[in-house]
Amino acid sequence: MDLKTAKLSGTAMRPVGLIIRQKDPNNLEMPFDQLDDFITPSELFYIRSHFPAPKLDPVAYRLSIRGAVRRELSLRYADIRAMPSRSCIATLECAGNGRVFLVPPARGAQWELGAVGNAEWTGVPLSVLLERAGLADEVCELVLEGADRGVPKEEPKPPGAISYARSIPRKRALEPDVLIAYAMNGQDLTLDHGYPLRAIVPGHYGMASVKWLTEVIATTQPFQGYWQTSDYAYWDDSAGPAVRRPLAEMKLKAQIARPRVYETLEPGRSYTIFGAAWAGDTDVTEIWVSVDGGTSWIQGHFLDPIVRHAWRRWKYDWVTPTQPGRYTLLARAKGADQRIQPDNHNPNFGSYVIDHPLPIEVFVIEP
Ligand code: MTE
Repeated sequence: MDLKTAKLSGTAMRPVGLIIRQKDPNNLEMPFDQLDDFITPSELFYIRSHFPAPKLDPVAYRLSIRGAVRRELSLRYADIRAMPSRSCIATLECAGNGRVFLVPPARGAQWELGAVGNAEWTGVPLSVLLERAGLADEVCELVLEGADRGVPKEEPKPPGAISYARSIPRKRALEPDVLIAYAMNGQDLTLDHGYPLRAIVPGHYGMASVKWLTEVIATTQPFQGYWQTSDYAYWDDSAGPAVRRPLAEMKLKAQIARPRVYETLEPGRSYTIFGAAWAGDTDVTEIWVSVDGGTSWIQGHFLDPIVRHAWRRWKYDWVTPTQPGRYTLLARAKGADQRIQPDNHNPNFGSYVIDHPLPIEVFVIEP
């Protein structure tokens, strides 16, 4: 099977379009019920931007690699384009995806199911650039900084405008699939997705994949920036008093694309429940579906093979109940590490990491 063009058999062309969660800056999500292909078409891929997209001139543009390195580098866009390229398929999920399911409601963009997508990314491995620059032995993290600036919306606010910057551990930064990317699904990045260059950090929540990337700074101390202490952080109380830590790897998660919430179905009919499942640093090996609100679980089937860091679409062929009524559908994935999704949202993650099975309520009614 050619994964890049893998479609659902028998599905018709669907109209494409995104749902506005915030108008300016653009924060748009995919209507997840339009899930079809293994690769999310770029026009359907969610957009999550904290500040207005900066318009960078590709000729004047420079990517600086500095900090604790032996040789600082200042690379032109053309330099990066001229280097040997690498492509990888990776699922990006915004850490706040599914927030609308939290009860009581949580502050922040009210993402439903569509702040996630799976694309093919092309660029130059960050490790190749770091090799050229020569990392000092003591380097523990690489800070990735974008050209966008503004005042964050969430309290506690910093005293003035700040840039968007996140760090990744040295070990992660040296993985070959961590890219300085210029293309998405074979086309130059669009402005909303980070033109001219962005980072792609497969396996991490989307916040790590910094767009409009202009600086890579090698540090010898853990970075304490706003976007990994105040925002996109969680309380870790696993070893005593709670400390704030940056969100990192995506958690194992399955989502139902069809049926939709409150869809009406006919009794006693065949219906294919369809969705996708993904994980950060493990492979998704099993998918389980419940059609009775979690009382019993039945195994579904994967439509895609395991591709590390890419989602797997799945299905379960259901015969709807003959008894009309309201039914709650759930999907739950299991990973190669033998873990399953938790029953409930962990409040230590605040309004992020919504990785429990999300209820899709449907009605079975006589036509
Ligand atoms: N990079 C910059 N410079 N500014 C941003 O606001 N948003 C991050 C990340 N990179 C962001 C950024 C977040 S929270 C996510 S989920 C992903 O970009 C979304 O990438 P996309 O808009 O291409 O889907």
